[in-house]
Amino acid sequence: MKHIELLNLHKSFGPKHILRGASLGIEKAETMVILGGSGTGKSVLLKCLLGLEKLDSGEIHIDGKPTHTLHGEARMELMTHFGMLFQGAALFDSMPVWENIAFLLLRRGMTPKQAKAAAIEKLEMVGLKPEVADQAPSSLSGGQRKRVGLARAIAHSPQIILYDEPTTGLDPVTSDVINNLILQTQKNLGCTSIVITHDMTSAFKVANRMAFLKEGQFLEVGTPKDFRTTANTTLRNFIEGRAETNE
Ligand SMILES: Nc1ncnc2c1ncn2[C@@H]1O[C@H](COP(=O)(O)OP(=O)(O)O)[C@@H](O)[C@H]1O
Ligand SMILES: [Mg+2]
Repeated sequence: MKHIELLNLHKSFGPKHILRGASLGIEKAETMVILGGSGTGKSVLLKCLLGLEKLDSGEIHIDGKPTHTLHGEARMELMTHFGMLFQGAALFDSMPVWENIAFLLLRRGMTPKQAKAAAIEKLEMVGLKPEVADQAPSSLSGGQRKRVGLARAIAHSPQIILYDEPTTGLDPVTSDVINNLILQTQKNLGCTSIVITHDMTSAFKVANRMAFLKEGQFLEVGTPKDFRTTANTTLRNFIEGRAETNE
């Protein structure tokens, strides 16, 4: 059984038909990289998976059970199985770093003291010092903010981690630190991961398998080797960063 199954997903915003029958199966504990141009619906796909956007049609199954139909308490419970690293890290500047990380733990009724200790443990997992716990997110560098975002994503030991463009806007060295953290987190938690990226170095470094989203569907799904040697010109142009011509 697949861990996550996306079946024939459709999603429109007004006249814009974004997802047009996207189907993809993701195995337990694999890292699936999703490639696709800007505005093709990669973030929308993640939001549909989380239930933050409603599908027009199609089904999402996790561990063989439909999840696209869940509401209320059942959906909240499902959300606790996910960790999400948002594009731009999306930290609350009004809270110190540790509260950002321990947000869900506090909501679940952990005492502030326990939650702060748990947050510091996660900070260490992502290579930050305990002192960072009391700092404001606005005082951190881009790379540090990403690390804090990752610490928050893993704070509740989720089974599925979603990364939306984790290395976009970072320099190559910091990007590599994040790539290593993605690999290490997979090892530590044994989680299933979905990584959306335009960064081919990152894609080939972290992927077990890859999927190429084009015009609302998955045009190709395969191993990094399959992608490197693809005969599909559209995919090859994308990977090699060449604009498509109509010649
Ligand atoms: N809430 C929304 N309302 C209207 N249009 C949206 C909304 N969310 C996304 N879109 C549109 O859907 C398309 C895909 O967006 P997105 O998934 O963010 O792209 P990307 O693949 O770059 O992550 C874009 O054209 C975007 O403008
Ligand atoms: Mg996006």
